[in-house]
Amino acid sequence: MANTLVVYYSRKGENHMPGGIQVLEKGNTEYAAEYIAKALNADLFEVDTVKPYAENYKACCGEAFAEFKAKARPEIKGYVADISGYDTIFVCYPCWCGTAPMSIFTFLEHYDWSGKRIVPLCTNEGSGLANSEADIAASCPGASLLPGLSIRGHQCKDSEAMLADWARKL
Ligand SMILES: Cc1cc2nc3c(=O)[nH]c(=O)nc-3n(C[C@H](O)[C@H](O)[C@H](O)COP(=O)(O)O)c2cc1C
Repeated sequence: MANTLVVYYSRKGENHMPGGIQVLEKGNTEYAAEYIAKALNADLFEVDTVKPYAENYKACCGEAFAEFKAKARPEIKGYVADISGYDTIFVCYPCWCGTAPMSIFTFLEHYDWSGKRIVPLCTNEGSGLANSEADIAASCPGASLLPGLSIRGHQCKDSEAMLADWARKL
């Protein structure tokens, strides 16, 4: 078992990219998470919701905003069985409504992260990390939170070398 875990949430389907709405077969964050896991020989785990979000971009934004306002913790399909062997956990997510998607908090609040290093990576189209680092810190008491990385979502696919470099230097 690796001692580093890369956890990610990423949404396929319609998204707002430079040039307009595009249908993504693979989400931006998924590329980033895979590159980091590959560079560090880490375990990779996808957080996914039981109830899928709308394929339509605007409808999805409405659903995400309603969950954000309600501080919802949407049910997710599964969890990592045992986190005790991991000392560093990369948490990769798209910025939604100025923070991480609520499903990331469903996942994080399931565990006791005391003594672990958590590294946020936020893909976004302009908001940067926004409130996500503070919100993750609040959901992971006892963890040591390293400075997060913000990356433009549409640049993830072509940023393997940069992401691998960043991850290896931590
Ligand atoms: C529901 C929703 C909300 C979003 N909210 C923000 C936001 O607040 N700030 C921002 O910069 N980008 C926002 N975006 C853009 C995404 O963060 C960006 O496209 C990200 O790279 C998508 O990653 P993914 O393809 O892995 O899901 C939002 C996108 C969606 C679908």
